[in-house]
Amino acid sequence: MPHSFYIVGVKFDILTTFPESFSAIQQSIVKRAENKGLIEIKIHNLRDFTLDKHKTTDDSPFSGGAGMLMKIEPIYAALKSLGVYPNRDSRTKVILTSAKGMLWKQSIAQDWSQNLDRIVIICGHYEGVDHRVVEHLIDGEISIGGYVLSGGEIPAMIVVDSITRLIDGALGNTLSLLDESHNEQMDAEYPQYTRPAIFKTEEGQEWGIPEILLSGDHKKIEDWKKRNSK
Ligand SMILES: C[S@@+](CC[C@H](N)C(=O)[O-])C[C@H]1O[C@@H](n2cnc3c(N)ncnc32)[C@H](O)[C@@H]1O
Repeated sequence: MPHSFYIVGVKFDILTTFPESFSAIQQSIVKRAENKGLIEIKIHNLRDFTLDKHKTTDDSPFSGGAGMLMKIEPIYAALKSLGVYPNRDSRTKVILTSAKGMLWKQSIAQDWSQNLDRIVIICGHYEGVDHRVVEHLIDGEISIGGYVLSGGEIPAMIVVDSITRLIDGALGNTLSLLDESHNEQMDAEYPQYTRPAIFKTEEGQEWGIPEILLSGDHKKIEDWKKRNSK
């Protein structure tokens, strides 16, 4: 049950033909944030928005060529049923995962975690998506990197995870956010170690840690962190 103290930060609606993929995100910080009521994740099966008895979500391209494209009709019907088409407010975004999209970055995650209430993510699959989805239904395309995956489910999970950890209250210790890579205030992360101070391998090696970290001298440790941040 959501914790009554928090107001839901961001609601995510994910449109996919592979809803079972999302069990991977129902863990850890994301799960905890959902339990606290900081986020809400709803997974919608695009097959539920088809009208034919075979629940078809893809078809061959008019231009010919290999592969199938995701059809516009189920996506359109899903967006209408979610109330984000034809109109949506400025704190709602509808995005499509795409290898050709805008590169997903920490600064966008930061912006959206603070400035959006609702994010609808359409997961592409097969050879791609009928281009009218891009032309008429969405606010933008997001790529998680310069490579091609089989589907938009992993990219969608990356978007959800990276936004969730930036929502106030999602992390047990908010100081961890300041120390993170890509944080603009720090813009770097230094190497970190935990016990044991000397790790002995079965091959007879001993891997220690920088001695300064055991010195107890906080000033020197801070200097060391700055020098070793990248
Ligand atoms: C096999 S890919 C389609 C690749 C497409 N034919 C192309 O050449 O760009 C299927 C779907 O996976 C998703 N996808 C693949 N790579 C991605 C990436 N780097 N970032 C975001 N989504 C990606 C997109 O939703 C895409 O429609």
